[in-house]
Amino acid sequence: MRHRLLQTGPLAPDLEAQLARQYDIHPLWKESDPKAFLADHGSDFVGLVTSARHGADAALLQAMPALKVISSFGVGLDAFDLEAARVKGIPIGYTPDVLNDCVADTAFALLMDVARNVSAADRFVRRGDWRTQQFPLATKVSGKRLGILGMGRIGRVIARRASGFDMELRYHNRRQASDVPYGYAPTLHELAAWADFLVIASAGGDETRGLVSREILDALGPKGYLINISRGSVTDQDALVDALVHKRIAGAGLDVFTHEPEVPEALLALDNVVLLPHVASNTHETRSDMAQRVLDNLTAFFAGRPMISQAL
Ligand code: DGY
Repeated sequence: MRHRLLQTGPLAPDLEAQLARQYDIHPLWKESDPKAFLADHGSDFVGLVTSARHGADAALLQAMPALKVISSFGVGLDAFDLEAARVKGIPIGYTPDVLNDCVADTAFALLMDVARNVSAADRFVRRGDWRTQQFPLATKVSGKRLGILGMGRIGRVIARRASGFDMELRYHNRRQASDVPYGYAPTLHELAAWADFLVIASAGGDETRGLVSREILDALGPKGYLINISRGSVTDQDALVDALVHKRIAGAGLDVFTHEPEVPEALLALDNVVLLPHVASNTHETRSDMAQRVLDNLTAFFAGRPMISQAL
């Protein structure tokens, strides 16, 4: 008998095909009335396949009384009601580690782009402005100060990348990490005031909501750049837009926003901002590794073993 799973939203076609081969899986998002469907059939499913984007809220968990396991595509857990899952004893498989390299690469792609004006220079050439104008000077990256908010799995890889640019490095974290050689800033304010580039690599969710506030942005100052490959919620987005528009910080490289896919209108006209559509882990190689981890977590669970990557 194949285990019955419910899937919250679309996933890569290869992963969906593999899931359909191994399980009896139902696409909730294709239902015209998902709430009514859950009320009638929620108790049929023992597994939930979801993603960092769709997560699982308390109402969904409540509507699935036979649920035993969740397998999520992605590292972020901010869209899950972790407390509701914990109370019901439902383990959550997810896909950390395999995406560290690509997310760290994207942080550096954004950092290099916004400091050296790569995207702006590309637009300049395409507009034909090179024929008549001199492109403005940019900001040097090598040897500068890099501040990292969040010295977790991804923060550590970003820190390693920085050594290739001879950057000086400090970080701020809830707790000082005993196993990294970098300077620890006891407050985010101190880190921002010190850094030329402040990279947000912390998790999203309630604990980090709004941490990068107007005060932190003002501490970063008119020569400082903000890079965010974590979650839009970690910044006060209105304060960030205001700081960018009024040049109270030098620029920003952003892969994430508060209400994706909405991007504040005011940012679209700015050349000192690089905007990406939440694609930090979005390479063929990493997405394939993440898909495999979704499958491996389920295989391990249904074989009675601990999942490879389990959050709860
Ligand atoms: C993740 O894995 O959490 C990415 O940000 C995609 O949502």
